[in-house]
Amino acid sequence: MNQVTWWRGGVIYQVYPRSLMDSNGDGVGDLQGIIAKLDYIASLNVDAIWISPFFKSPMKDFGYDISDYLEIDPLFGTMADFEQLIEQAHQRNIKVVIDQVLSHTSDQHAWFEQSRQSRDNDKADWYVWADPKDDGSAPNNWLAIFGGCAWEWEPRRQQYYLHNFLKSQPDLNFHSPQVRQAVLNNVEFWLKKGVDGFRLDAITFCYHDEQLRDNPAKPKDQRQGRGFSEDNPYAYQYHYYNNTRPQTVGFIEELRALINRYPGAVTLGEVSSEDSLATMAEYTQGEDRLHMAYSFELLTDDFSAAYIRQTVEELEASIGDGWPCWAIGNHDVQRVATRWGKQQANPTMIKMLNAMLFSLRGSVCSYQGEELGLTEAPIEFNQLQDPFGIAFWPMFKGRDGCRTPMPWVKSEDNAGFSHTQPWLPISAQHISSAVDVQEADSESVLNSYRHFLAWRKQQNVLIAGDIQFVNAHPNVLAFVRTLGSQRMLVLFNLSIQQSQFELADIKVNTVLDDHGLATGHQDKLQPSTIVLPGFSSFYAFVD
Ligand code: NOJ
Repeated sequence: MNQVTWWRGGVIYQVYPRSLMDSNGDGVGDLQGIIAKLDYIASLNVDAIWISPFFKSPMKDFGYDISDYLEIDPLFGTMADFEQLIEQAHQRNIKVVIDQVLSHTSDQHAWFEQSRQSRDNDKADWYVWADPKDDGSAPNNWLAIFGGCAWEWEPRRQQYYLHNFLKSQPDLNFHSPQVRQAVLNNVEFWLKKGVDGFRLDAITFCYHDEQLRDNPAKPKDQRQGRGFSEDNPYAYQYHYYNNTRPQTVGFIEELRALINRYPGAVTLGEVSSEDSLATMAEYTQGEDRLHMAYSFELLTDDFSAAYIRQTVEELEASIGDGWPCWAIGNHDVQRVATRWGKQQANPTMIKMLNAMLFSLRGSVCSYQGEELGLTEAPIEFNQLQDPFGIAFWPMFKGRDGCRTPMPWVKSEDNAGFSHTQPWLPISAQHISSAVDVQEADSESVLNSYRHFLAWRKQQNVLIAGDIQFVNAHPNVLAFVRTLGSQRMLVLFNLSIQQSQFELADIKVNTVLDDHGLATGHQDKLQPSTIVLPGFSSFYAFVD
């Protein structure tokens, strides 16, 4: 692995620490649990882990509400545990990317506790404060993603403060140079600890319009695609004034200047904007901004060859020397096996989906449990933990169904995740897909995942090659990856029905079938037609 450019085309395995492994028997995963599973993670042949937040937090948004950026929450362990984690991961050649939630803090952060006291303290302008309108109502029409008005009243200041998520997640005022410096100091603390990079939470939310202009209404037919519930009034506005403000690029450049002092460290931005593909391109241009960015484009319900092609082509047309990162699942959306698989999800389909993700041009985030093909876990209302789900039930059931504990051993209590009842229930379907069951089956989703990533490491064209799409049957996603003189044809049948691909003027040179997907269609190769069984994948070098 090249120590500086590892991230280009690298595979980043996302660990949701509450749910990977509980080492101390409190029902919640922790850092020692991650350390215990590093051999397993190394066996997946991924390049890095991104660990969702484990910093001090009242856990209103399960760690995305930080009350001290420089401390580990005792629920997850100690600083010594984290130092051990970095050392142990590095021994196994796994990079460690941590989550930085810069746009907002917890309302229990010392900065906010001071800021809210008065209009003239040292930190009075560290958050976004505004006077009420003459009628006492909120300063403008901005809405919070997790429900309701984005403004909350603070009696001590007789003002409102802005929150784009929960009211316990006040928004920092990035227009203040002191805020930006304080944030960068926190980031540098972790660089000094030896982390290899940062996933930047909600990076498009850092700035707000200082004139506090109202967001315009969005027509009904356009209220989609942000990765959040369509039954949420948040989708009724264009978020021109509280998201993706022009100043963000300046902050990103300040951040990159810091990061560059620690060679090898990378940044991965979470992009959610009115035109996320354009924003991904803008934020990753050149050498002075983010290394890579992902958006919610492949995290929605849209699943068709045409949609995936259109998304990737649109990005490719504008990304220039920027760099994408693709994800088809994470801790914010329904498990991909259910979201895209619906009733048809089966191991063959999941293998194909993982292979497709790993074959697009860019880096990849693969969410824990995708290597097992886990489906969305059913969660009853009285089991809900996610405040987003509690607010929007029953139209939107929140994010708990993708956050349930990993099933390690089928026959053990709580599938080997914990000795005690876990914080979220483990579904029966997950228990029968446990790691030990899949390890014993050479054809399992898990073994296919490992095999495919080992094979991919040898295929530089999949890591660094260009991508061009090829016309195909509507059920088939077809593209060619090109690196120098090497051209690899890649086909996926996204449907359960058999399909065909007409080679036309493409001349197959070598069919590649040692990637572990075991779909056995090589013998079906006819002179000008490739027969693609339902949910199959096909790789070949072509002239
Ligand atoms: C995006 C994170 O992925 C999500 O889990 C969190 O709730 C919001 N940002 C707020 O930090």
